[in-house]
Amino acid sequence: MTKPLTLHDTAHAKINLFLHVTGRRPDGYHLLDSLAVFAGAGDRISAEKHDSECLLSITGPFSVGLSASDDNLVLKAAHALRQKAGITQGVHLTLEKNLPVASGIGGGSADAASALRLLSTLWEVDPALLPNIAPTLGADVPVCLGQTPTRMLGIGEILEAGPTLPEGGILLANPGIGVSTPDIFRRFSQTGGPQPRTAPILPMHWENMQHLASTLTDTTNDLQPPAVSLAPIINETLAAIATLPNCLLSRMSGSGATCFGLFPTAENAHAAAQILREHHNWWIWGGAFASTEK
Ligand code: C5P
Repeated sequence: MTKPLTLHDTAHAKINLFLHVTGRRPDGYHLLDSLAVFAGAGDRISAEKHDSECLLSITGPFSVGLSASDDNLVLKAAHALRQKAGITQGVHLTLEKNLPVASGIGGGSADAASALRLLSTLWEVDPALLPNIAPTLGADVPVCLGQTPTRMLGIGEILEAGPTLPEGGILLANPGIGVSTPDIFRRFSQTGGPQPRTAPILPMHWENMQHLASTLTDTTNDLQPPAVSLAPIINETLAAIATLPNCLLSRMSGSGATCFGLFPTAENAHAAAQILREHHNWWIWGGAFASTEK
């Protein structure tokens, strides 16, 4: 008997290098201007053909408490693609959950995008269908389809290629708390809401990480103050990252609570992660960006 074909994919962590909230739509969703990049860290997803059902198994350090039922975004993605493409085949998907959940680095969105990529190969579906399905699954799913530096506009569905990243290092730290994205947006609205500002002008590419960090100093993550007010440990996380050797910038990603630090090299970020682990029992990762790691 031949072994069934199994396909593998990595759902890389999405980092918002800046995130400006520029307005609010009548349906309550917020208009954003954000630069998303991807770190080497990620969940691993595999897909194996199955008769007619779509099944999901979840393993890995952050699998505890996650539902493997139809409300999981990975299965939602599978069902949406089956419906759109008229597929009757099934799949057995396995999600190795390495990234903390509800933590501002894509997580479920990256997993859903990864499932779409795998299933379009497994079921031989035209990949051109995927960008139509992605936004129906979540605001961050479209950007996670490409996993390359991308400027996100609208509510995250208008995507423009971002500048090429230099070789460099990134550190991620989550202080062990999950925060609710709607709660953070609600607090943002209660504390002033979107403010008028000029859109950042970015270069075509950055010469090095020092150049990248210096252009980011004119930007912010607008969700950081409301997130800190709901979860003050985020401030402690940001301060701990900022004091690590060679750290160029520390900031929160997405709606938090994961914070990141930028470093001149991947080795610097890796070494900084080891120092941070000596002092904190947090989830900590340090290494290269996804695009420069391959
Ligand atoms: O689309 P997603 O499920 O990722 O969004 C979660 C929640 O975050 C939304 O229900 C909404 O409250 C908030 N959100 C927003 N504006 C965005 C993205 C998300 O207000 N652009």
